[in-house]
Amino acid sequence: MVKASVAIRTDEPLGTISPNIYGHFAEHLGRCIDEGIWVGPESAIANNGGARQDVTEALAAIRCPVIRWPGGCFADAYDWRDGVGPHERRPRRINVWWNKEEDNQFGTDEFVRFCRDVGAEPYICGNVGSGTPREMMQWVEYCNYEGQTTLARERVANGAPVPHKVKYWGIGNENWGCGGQFGAEQYAHEYRRFGSYLRRIDPTIELISCGHSPEWNLGFFSNLGRVDLVDHHSLHHYYKCGPGTGFSEEEYYGLFPRALELEEAINRLSQLMSHFDRGRRIGIVVDEWGVWHPEADVGLWQPNTLRDALSAAVVLDVFNRQAGVVTMGNIAQTVNVLQCLLQTDGAAMWRTPTYHVFDLYKSHMGNYSLRADVVCERHEFSLEGRREHVLPLSVSASHSEAAGRLVLSLTNLHLTETLEVTVSLHGSTAVSGIARTLTSANADDVNSAAEPDRVCLAPVDAPSGEEFTLQLAPKSTTVGLWELR
Ligand code: AHR
Repeated sequence: MVKASVAIRTDEPLGTISPNIYGHFAEHLGRCIDEGIWVGPESAIANNGGARQDVTEALAAIRCPVIRWPGGCFADAYDWRDGVGPHERRPRRINVWWNKEEDNQFGTDEFVRFCRDVGAEPYICGNVGSGTPREMMQWVEYCNYEGQTTLARERVANGAPVPHKVKYWGIGNENWGCGGQFGAEQYAHEYRRFGSYLRRIDPTIELISCGHSPEWNLGFFSNLGRVDLVDHHSLHHYYKCGPGTGFSEEEYYGLFPRALELEEAINRLSQLMSHFDRGRRIGIVVDEWGVWHPEADVGLWQPNTLRDALSAAVVLDVFNRQAGVVTMGNIAQTVNVLQCLLQTDGAAMWRTPTYHVFDLYKSHMGNYSLRADVVCERHEFSLEGRREHVLPLSVSASHSEAAGRLVLSLTNLHLTETLEVTVSLHGSTAVSGIARTLTSANADDVNSAAEPDRVCLAPVDAPSGEEFTLQLAPKSTTVGLWELR
């Protein structure tokens, strides 16, 4: 048994936790959209207008706040006009990035309907790499315009009498790479063109610029000249350590420092942006993140283990701690691809361990993030001849003023040791607690169609008081809710 302590500063809110940090990303890649979300209205699998009912309900149950679409790399090759109008007339195209054909049955109207059925905001990523400002302006007009223009009428004729009111628009994706191989200066120039026209079509939309390395971000903001055109700037963070299953003990631990590199990237970007955005108006959107294992092969399918889920908890703690700075997060990708939350095989659908982490963490949405000071001995290990270390206890805390509730997340990364954690609340008292834990016998346990609940949530004790002690099982994430007095 290892001991640790956490001091929660209930009087030191760090900022409001945007519900959108618990968001998702769905690309036309592998079996994410086709089979994962979209089966078509004629399918024997239960669906709402073609989108799987089981997937819709599972996402609604974790209060999925926002979904990014259609890519990813796919976005900068996508012509939105291919995906609207009568289904039988939609063209079949080459999906140039993901080695498949695209039949365009799931387009803008289907995506927005799916989001609304889930209860999520749609976030559309536009095409800068091979598209024009005019095409993207027309896409915004088609979605959001309330008047009688040809495009607005076309949307009505396509079955959407009420404007879609899509709030979030990304101006390209990874434009330093698959999104057109731009330099930062050239992208800044393109961004200005796209951004200024899009704002004329709908001044209420929020625009997201594409971020990358510190050099790229500096080049972008130095050459932009119109910082008012950016509402959010994006970062992507993929990480891995050894294989997805069958990893060594060192590789198990090695995944977490790699996940945590994101916190450093966020701090660095936030500092850089403060030179250009003096009022600190621009948020950071981590619109692709998660584990990308070497096994991710055909359609970027990969195993999704308990270890992956623990790394998601560690990242969500970073987002909670960075409340006010990080305005959105979109784990890659919702169904069947990379660190997905759901997997499907024909009519079967099951939840990955990462889904359960999102289920646990949803209680933080919209709360005030609280400062939590952790005292815990670092775990040292050796990986490929290098000494490394990780703090084996990851924590985030928040307070819901409306519900008068404290929410506390604690992840014990130790493989074999229980962590005994003393929590002190400094002047406040926690009462009537309930808590649930995610763990399993092995760190590389997965769920499957045959064993959908092998890794699942279980209730655990949640003692009360101004100071109380929790026992955290090895390799586990626990989230507790307490009434705060
Ligand atoms: O999520 C898979 C791919 O990873 C996305 O298409 C791209 O943006 C990133 O490189």
